[in-house]
Amino acid sequence: MKLTCNDIRRQYIDFFLQRGHKFVPSSSLLPADDPTLLFTNAGMNQFKAIFLGQERPGSARVVNSQKCIRAGGKHNDLEDVGHDVYHHTFFEMLGNWSFGDYFKAEAIEWAWELLTKVWGLPKERLHATVFEGSRDEGLAPDAEAADLWRKVTDIDPSHIHMGNRKDNFWEMGETGPCGPCSEIHYDFTPDLSGGPLVNAGDARVVEIWNLVFMQFNRTADGALSPLPARHVDTGMGFERVCRVLQGVDSNYDIDVFRGIFDALSKLTSAGPYTGKLDDTKDIAYRVIADHARCLTFAIADGVIPSNEGRGYVLRRILRRAARYGRQYLGIEGSFIVKLVPTVVELMGETFGELRKRQDAVIQTIAAEEESFGRTLDRGIDLFERQVKRLTDSGKKQLPGEVAFDLYATYGFPTDLTQLMAAERGLSVDMAGYEEAMNRHRETSSAGGDKFKVVAVAGLPSTDDAPKYSHKSVEARVLGWVVGDKFITEGMLPAGSKAAVALDRTCFYAESGGQVGDSGALAWDGGEFVVSDTTSAGQCVLHAGEVVAGRLQAGQVVRCQVAPSRLDTMRNHTATHLLNWALREVLGDGIHQAGSVVGPDRLRFDFTHGQAVREEELQQVETLVNQRILADEPVSVHLLPLATAMKISGVRAVFGEKYPDPVRVIAIGTEDPLKTAGRGCAIEFCGGTHLHRTSVVGLFKIVSEESVAKGVRRITALTGREAVAHVQQSDGILRQLTSELRAGAADLPQRVVAMQKELKELRKRPAAQAGGSEDIFNPQHVIDSSYGNILVGKALSGDPAVMRAECDRQRQKGAAAVFMGGVGEDAKVTLTAMVSDDLVKAGLCKAGDWVKAIAPIVGGGGGGKATLAQAGGRDGAKLEEALSAAAAWVKEKMS
Ligand code: SER
Repeated sequence: MKLTCNDIRRQYIDFFLQRGHKFVPSSSLLPADDPTLLFTNAGMNQFKAIFLGQERPGSARVVNSQKCIRAGGKHNDLEDVGHDVYHHTFFEMLGNWSFGDYFKAEAIEWAWELLTKVWGLPKERLHATVFEGSRDEGLAPDAEAADLWRKVTDIDPSHIHMGNRKDNFWEMGETGPCGPCSEIHYDFTPDLSGGPLVNAGDARVVEIWNLVFMQFNRTADGALSPLPARHVDTGMGFERVCRVLQGVDSNYDIDVFRGIFDALSKLTSAGPYTGKLDDTKDIAYRVIADHARCLTFAIADGVIPSNEGRGYVLRRILRRAARYGRQYLGIEGSFIVKLVPTVVELMGETFGELRKRQDAVIQTIAAEEESFGRTLDRGIDLFERQVKRLTDSGKKQLPGEVAFDLYATYGFPTDLTQLMAAERGLSVDMAGYEEAMNRHRETSSAGGDKFKVVAVAGLPSTDDAPKYSHKSVEARVLGWVVGDKFITEGMLPAGSKAAVALDRTCFYAESGGQVGDSGALAWDGGEFVVSDTTSAGQCVLHAGEVVAGRLQAGQVVRCQVAPSRLDTMRNHTATHLLNWALREVLGDGIHQAGSVVGPDRLRFDFTHGQAVREEELQQVETLVNQRILADEPVSVHLLPLATAMKISGVRAVFGEKYPDPVRVIAIGTEDPLKTAGRGCAIEFCGGTHLHRTSVVGLFKIVSEESVAKGVRRITALTGREAVAHVQQSDGILRQLTSELRAGAADLPQRVVAMQKELKELRKRPAAQAGGSEDIFNPQHVIDSSYGNILVGKALSGDPAVMRAECDRQRQKGAAAVFMGGVGEDAKVTLTAMVSDDLVKAGLCKAGDWVKAIAPIVGGGGGGKATLAQAGGRDGAKLEEALSAAAAWVKEKMS
C-alpha cells in the first residue's frame, strides 16, 4: 500500500529515534529573538545558539519535522511557486542533528540506509554532491565526504559529483553558522540520464536531502571563524520525498495537496486540477493551495498580515493567491478562507496548533481577503476607466503613472497590468512607470507605508540641530533598528533594510506636519539611501536601505539630505502664509486642524462651517502670492514659552504641547516681541523654513474640500509643482481653444452652446428611434471584410459632435467613417475615423484620408491613423469632397 505523508514523517522520525536521537517538536514559524530572519526557514534555526556554542544542547542527537517558510529574505522561493512542481512558500523539513557528536560518516551512512534499505529507493536514481572547495575563502575540497560516500555506501562512484560554493556550502543567512554540505538528488528521467542535470536547475533532477557539516560561523565582517565544535545538520524536503515515495509526478500530487485541490475545485467552475505545467488554471491551483497552507500555518503561529516586515510578506502571499483565484479560476469574492478547514483537517493532527487557532486564522484571513477584494475591485474600476479614456482618444499606451498607481495603491503587480492592457490591445509605458516609482521613492516620506519604531529599547539620542543649517554633516553610525531590536555591532551588507541611528544629523525627522527627509548616508565605496526619517524619543532614525558597500557600526558617514527638502521648505513657509491669509479672508473663526507639508504639495485643514467660495479662494491665493512677491524676510526666534504666548496674533495649535523655550517663526516682522499683529504671520513651529518668502516662487491652490463636519481642507502647490500645474492647465486650455476654434474667454459660452445643440439633436424623433440619420447621412456605403465604410454629410459642423457621431457609427459596426459638415460660420469640418484593424492591415489611415480630401474644400489638416479632422473654407465644395473621399477609400480597399 502507498505510504501517506503522515506515514513517511513517522518512519523518518522512528529511524532516527532508533539511532539514539531525541524528538524535538517543530519551533514556531515566527523566529524567537532573531531579527536577522523573517520566518523560520530551516530546521536548524532553533539550534543556532547551540551551534555557536552559546547554549548547551539537551541531547546530543535530535530529530524533527520543522515548519519552514521561504518567502522574502535570503532563501526566497515565492515567485517560483506555482510555475514549477517542487517549490513551496511553506514546507516541512525533516531533519536529524548531531551537536558535537557524530559527524560525516554516520550522517552519510544513515541517509543512504534510510533511502535505499528502509524506503527501497532505486540506487541508480540517487546522486550525491560534495563541496569542491573555494580558493577565495581558503577552503579545501571536501575529500573526506567524497571518500566516505565511496566507503560507507554502495553508491555508484560515477554518481558522486563535486559542487561549488553556491550549491555545496550552506549558510543560514548573511551571518551565522555554516559549512560544506553534501546533497542527495533524485533522478526522475525515464532513461536514468540525469547525471549531467544535477544542480543544473533542471526539474528532472531534484535535491531531496541536504547533509550540512557545520564547521564555521560567518561573522558580520564577512569572515569565517571555526565553531567550537563540529555538528551535523540535515534537512530533507518533506513534500519532495513524499512525491518520490508516492511515485507521483509532482510535489503537488501528494495526498495533502490533493485534499486542498479537491476543496478548491468546489469553489471554481474552471474545472479540476490537471497537473499541467504551463496551464494558468493549474498554476493557479498550485499557487492557491501552497499559499493557503502558508497563510494558515503562519497566522496560527502569530504572524499577522501588515504593511511591514514579515507581516507584509504574508500580505503579499495572500494577495497573490487572491489574484490568481480571480484571474485564472474566475472565483468571485473571498475563497482562501474557505480552504482553511481543509488544511486544518489534513495537517492538524501533526500540528495541533492549527486546531487550536483555527478560528483566529479564519477571522484574520477573512478580514484581509475582504479588504483586498475591495481594493482589487477599485483597481479594476480605475483600470477600466483609464482604458475607456485611452480608447476614446485613440491612444494605445497606458501611462506609467496609472500603472504605478495600480501597483502602489491597489496592489497590482506590473505584469498583471501589462497582461490586462495586452488583452485590450494596449501597451504600458514602463519607462514612465519607473519614473513614477522613483518619484515615489523620493517622496515616499509624504505618506503611505511609513516606517514606525515601536517600543525599541536602548536607543541613543541624536544631535539634530544641523537640520536647520541646510548643510551636509559628517556623523558616526551608532547602530540600527531591525525589527524591534537596536543593534550596535557588526555591519549591514548591501540590500539590507534598517533604520540607522547617528550621533548627529542634518535630516529632519517627521514632526509638526512636516514629513521626514529623504536622502543618503554616503561613505567611501558605499551608500545608504534614506527613504524616511522619523524620531523615537531623542533618537533620529534614518530608515532605508544599503544600496552599495557595507555599513559598519562606528563608521563615519556624510549625511546628504535630498534636494527636494527645499521644496518642502517652500511648502512649509507657504503654509504659514496660507494660515494667515485664510484668517484675513474668512475671519478669526478659522483654526488650524492639521497639516501635511511634503516636497510635492501642502495640505492644510481648518475649522470652517461651509465650503470656501471660489472668489474667497482666489483672494486667499492672491494674498499669499503678494507676500511672496514682496520678498519678505522669514525670521526665527527662540523665546521663553510664557513670553511667546503673549505675542499679539500668534498662531498656536490648540491642545498642542509646546516646548519651553519655544521656536517662533515670524513673517512680517523681524522682532515679534515689539511689532506684531494683524499683518504678521507668526507661528510656533519646529519645522524648516525659507529665509525669504520670495523663494516660494508661486503659490497655487488646487483643491478645497470637506474632510469632516466643520473642517475644510485646502491642497496647494508651490515652486516647481505650481509651475508644472499652471503649464498643464494652460496646455489643456490651448488644446480646447484650438479644437473648438474659440478664444479662451469664449470657451465657457461655447461649451454651453454645444451642450444645448447636442440636447436639441437628441430630442429629434429620428435620434430617439435609435437612428442618427438626422445627424449623419451615409451617402456612400463601401463594403469591406472589416465592416461597412460610410461616407456622408453631417448636419452639425461641430468637430466634437462629429467625433461623437463617428464613434456611434463605429460602435454600430462601421469599420470606418468619413463625414463632412458645415458650421454656422460656413466653414467646413471633415472628420475621419478608422478602426484599428483597418489601420493594422495597412489599408487606410484617417490622417491620410483627410489630408487627401481637405484641399478640395480649400483647407488642410490631418491627424492620427485612427482619428483625424481638418477644416476648410469652401462649403459649396462639400459634396464633391465627399465623393472624392468615397473614391479614395474604395481605391485603398481594392
Ligand atoms: N540547514 C540545511 C538546509 O536548510 C539542512 O538542514 O538545507
